[in-house]
Amino acid sequence: MQALKVAGCIPPLLYSQLFVHIPYPTSDFSGQTIIVTGSNTGLGKEAVRHLVRLGSKKVIMGVRTVSKGEAAAEDIINSCNVKSSIIEVWQLDMADSKSVQAFAERARGLERLDAAILNAGVQSMKWSTAGSYESHIAINTINTTLLSMLLLPKLQASARTTGQRGRLTTVGSDLMYFANLRELETEGNILKKLSDEAQSRSWIGQRYAQSKILLFWLIRELANRNPLTQDSDVLITVVTPGGCQSDLFRDDIGPVGKAVFKFISGCFNRTTEVGARTYVHAVSPELPVEAHGRFLMDAKIAANGMNVTSVQGRNLAKKWNEEMLEMLQREVDLDAGS
Ligand SMILES: NC(=O)c1ccc[n+]([C@@H]2O[C@H](COP(=O)([O-])OP(=O)(O)OC[C@H]3O[C@@H](n4cnc5c(N)ncnc54)[C@H](OP(=O)(O)O)[C@@H]3O)[C@@H](O)[C@H]2O)c1
Repeated sequence: MQALKVAGCIPPLLYSQLFVHIPYPTSDFSGQTIIVTGSNTGLGKEAVRHLVRLGSKKVIMGVRTVSKGEAAAEDIINSCNVKSSIIEVWQLDMADSKSVQAFAERARGLERLDAAILNAGVQSMKWSTAGSYESHIAINTINTTLLSMLLLPKLQASARTTGQRGRLTTVGSDLMYFANLRELETEGNILKKLSDEAQSRSWIGQRYAQSKILLFWLIRELANRNPLTQDSDVLITVVTPGGCQSDLFRDDIGPVGKAVFKFISGCFNRTTEVGARTYVHAVSPELPVEAHGRFLMDAKIAANGMNVTSVQGRNLAKKWNEEMLEMLQREVDLDAGS
């Protein structure tokens, strides 16, 4: 099953990397306020540059280190030749649910919120934890879903007042097509199993891909639970930028490895500017309603893949979503009551 899955995915992904042209974004974002997390560098930073260039009224950069965010903001302001007040840099640590809650609380004070790109993410071959959970699962999956749930009411309220449909996208990866699901099989709690270093350390090479399929399952279910209506006029999606020349693999390789990786990446991968075009598409005002709950790749709606459609994928998604959405909803309710 795993070999079949991998073999089936390689030709379309190679085609996407080598032959697909992602159109240069030209949508009009004037008057709009947009959040981009993990935007001090890489794809997030280039997405902010596009959004500023396309006339956004305000772009909030959610970053772990404010000084790095401010340096990135200055570079964008200078390159786009716009007023510095267009960009605000806000602190956000996606490894810490309290920081996620504080960030969402601050976002509730915005005059309007039209779109959000939840891009912050990690990739590593080393085992580490954030709070009680393994880091990929904590950052890429759990806190990205929590932030989506916390920002959704603000996006819904803004759409009602402005009459413009909101857009919420989280950044996944096409590696979700390859994720090996065998480790997720358990009679007990999936999250508990994934957080147990003794059981899970040997699976760390799979963890990034797993974190992205686990994210897709949750966000797809969030979209199902929030269908497009007058009260909830917000398109919810997961987007992949495709393979890009960023710093994502920074933790794993020394200087020689970095040079080799840079060379190989330069042959196959997109620049971050090109990859970020897919993010702009995912939050563009023209995104079609059919995109709701879907995976976006190459600035189009993409197939869900066997990890979503197979019996194994469907059963695991149901179990995972029940486990997680109940737990996260409790946090959202507590947050609303505080
Ligand atoms: N590059 C690719 O080929 C590729 C392919 C598919 C999907 N993606 C996805 O694209 C997204 C962006 O990655 P990238 O390629 O642009 O990598 P990157 O250059 O490493 O950027 C990652 C961003 O996430 C931030 N981040 C990481 N942990 C954080 C935390 N705990 N709190 C707040 N921010 C945090 C980083 O901040 P710091 O600088 O402070 O660490 C950085 O701004 C990720 O979700 C990644 O999984 C990338």
